[in-house]
Amino acid sequence: MRIPIIAGNWKMNNTLSQSIDLVKKIIEKYLREEVEVVLAVPFTSLYEVKKLLEGTKIKLAAQNMHWEDKGAFTGEISPLMLKEIGIDYCIIGHSERRQYFNERDETVNKKIKAALKHGIRPIVCVGETLEEREKNIHEDIVKNQVVKAFEGVDKDHIKDIVIAYEPIWAIGTGKTASSEEANKMCSLIREAIGHIYGEEAKNTIRIQYGGSVKPDNIKELMEKEEIDGALVGGASLNAEDFIDIVNY
Ligand code: 13P
Repeated sequence: MRIPIIAGNWKMNNTLSQSIDLVKKIIEKYLREEVEVVLAVPFTSLYEVKKLLEGTKIKLAAQNMHWEDKGAFTGEISPLMLKEIGIDYCIIGHSERRQYFNERDETVNKKIKAALKHGIRPIVCVGETLEEREKNIHEDIVKNQVVKAFEGVDKDHIKDIVIAYEPIWAIGTGKTASSEEANKMCSLIREAIGHIYGEEAKNTIRIQYGGSVKPDNIKELMEKEEIDGALVGGASLNAEDFIDIVNY
């Protein structure tokens, strides 16, 4: 049984005071217990949000990290810094990082290994562009992203890793992949994991869908066999919408 996991990725939204307000609103409301809920908040809000989440079941995530423990990397945040705050998860290889900050499969791989070394669970993002889908190479692109991301990652860690399939053309556009298409791509990712790590890992790894997830499409997505959760952008910035998504 894979436990469903719904994460809100706030991206570069919410100052510290805004983060505190939003987290308080989320905590006040009932969130169904069978779903693991994660909030990926900006670095500047992590410490205070961690304190607010104390005593709740909501988990905390960062949105990125460097792979080195420390050193001359001006402006970067290390896994050690995040670990001390007490984060549970870290989003790694989000398409916006790949697109705007030159994130590569090689650095995604390094970050995954560094996170695992420090007991931080990676939420590994993969997904194709519209152009790649139109050329009908999206399946190979995504499979290749998975293979490269997991290079040298130990089988024992599969239970700690979440994959988020986020087609880039569906992010922030209001266009969701159909639940059938999302399910098909999650199935393909699961097969790729099975190919590398075997049957047990294939059935263990949790795979989220991300891209314009909203209260009115979450149910249909979650009914699909291969989809174990959602990585929610825009709709996670509104407490009511996010709660409706979690309580789908
Ligand atoms: P939207 O839900 O705003 O489309 O964002 C998806 C996303 O990128 C989550 O990481």
